[in-house]
Amino acid sequence: MCRDVRVCRGSSNLRRGALDCESLLFALNQAACCRACNLIRRKQASLVKAKASFRSPKLRDGRERYPSLKSVEEKKQTSIDTDLQHFAEDEKIHGAVVPPIFQNSLFVFDTYEDFSSGMAGLSKDEEKYYYSRISNPSMTVAEKKIAHLEHTDRAKVFGSGMAAVSCAIMSCVHQGAHVVSVDTCYSNTRQMLQDYLPKFGVKSTFVEGTCPEEFIDNFTDDTKLVILESPSTFFFKLQDIEAICKSAKAKGIKTMIDNSYSTPIFQTPADFGVDLIVHSATKYLGGHSDITAGVICGPESHMSHLIKDEMVIYGSALAPFPAWLLTRGMRTLKLRMKQHELAGNFVAEWLEDSPFVERVHHVGLASFPQKDLYRKQMAGSGGLISFEPKFQTKEEVARFINALELFQIGVSWGGFESLVVGALLEPMGYKEKRWVIRLYCGLEGPADLVADLEQAFSKVG
Ligand SMILES: Cc1ncc(COP(=O)(O)O)c(C=O)c1O
Repeated sequence: MCRDVRVCRGSSNLRRGALDCESLLFALNQAACCRACNLIRRKQASLVKAKASFRSPKLRDGRERYPSLKSVEEKKQTSIDTDLQHFAEDEKIHGAVVPPIFQNSLFVFDTYEDFSSGMAGLSKDEEKYYYSRISNPSMTVAEKKIAHLEHTDRAKVFGSGMAAVSCAIMSCVHQGAHVVSVDTCYSNTRQMLQDYLPKFGVKSTFVEGTCPEEFIDNFTDDTKLVILESPSTFFFKLQDIEAICKSAKAKGIKTMIDNSYSTPIFQTPADFGVDLIVHSATKYLGGHSDITAGVICGPESHMSHLIKDEMVIYGSALAPFPAWLLTRGMRTLKLRMKQHELAGNFVAEWLEDSPFVERVHHVGLASFPQKDLYRKQMAGSGGLISFEPKFQTKEEVARFINALELFQIGVSWGGFESLVVGALLEPMGYKEKRWVIRLYCGLEGPADLVADLEQAFSKVG
């Protein structure tokens, strides 16, 4: 009998027991005594094995993405953990350890000459503030931190992920332009490309995208932008970022990626040649389901124009208070991503063994079909999983979802809380529509999440 009674009460009791990660690990060291313990130990052992074989991916300049302590000392770099706490926060206003919220819409000047130079100062090195629709010190802290983490010159924060996506797209196209996009990009990004931009003469081609040639073969003389989302939403397919960017660059085509799934903790697309990186910071970067926010990161040459030409006009900058919350949320980004990864892998592996499940889509699984590309581009997987249940009627899907207690019914992801949504989809390569259930594993105990799924499956049939 295990000494940790919270584990030993059996799998159905796990749901009620307050089993956190630490006690889960503690429990794993105890003797085997029940099915739940064995299951947890088996899953954990495969995670440990996967971690042992993990090699830090190389950056384009040959450096390791996660440098050892020694190389950090030699190169005088600080780690991501330290940067999340301190980068861009040198100035301590009145000694305040946390940067204050600059809750003001405008900035005033002592002289007309200062005012005139303030209006001109939009470059990152001489950030001058005059109006919070463009910039504000609370925005700047978050922007500098994200730009640094994404290995780009500059970042700007927006009022939502879609504000960032639409501004980034508009900064790359003009009347008559053509876009090649991954088919499974975020639904509203697709809506913009498919339904909205044709009004202005901008056409788009959608490709499944698992093979770089699908993009390259669709390039025309008018192609101005390639849109990637790797992994893509719902089915988590990867695109070969480096190969696609290389071909696009050779033809003068800009590339943009939605990096919301990975965050810079697990993927830095600029190292593979992407021009613009966008985020729905509503998701992992904010991390607490209390803001909507977006980010665009890119080279100064593009960003300075984007700020003057698009951002100024659209007026979709992030307000000071949510910008401050974004900085606060990011302090725990790496810790949270590691926990989402642990929970996501644990739940996905359990689902793979479930008699109720036909197919599981999750980049962290050993069975993930693009494992080599995953290892090249990514340093970890997140908390999103989708699966195709064997039961395929709307009523059964609804019964399963309604029976869940910990997984709450709702869109979005990236916060502390686990979520579930179901959708009838027919992605490219499928012959018919399938019910797909998407789970987002939040920060609850992984075994509690599994117990919740187990009891909900038992209610289906
Ligand atoms: C991958 C992805 N990109 C962009 C967005 C849009 O972000 P927001 O809701 O912050 O506008 C979402 C929203 O769900 C998303 O999932």
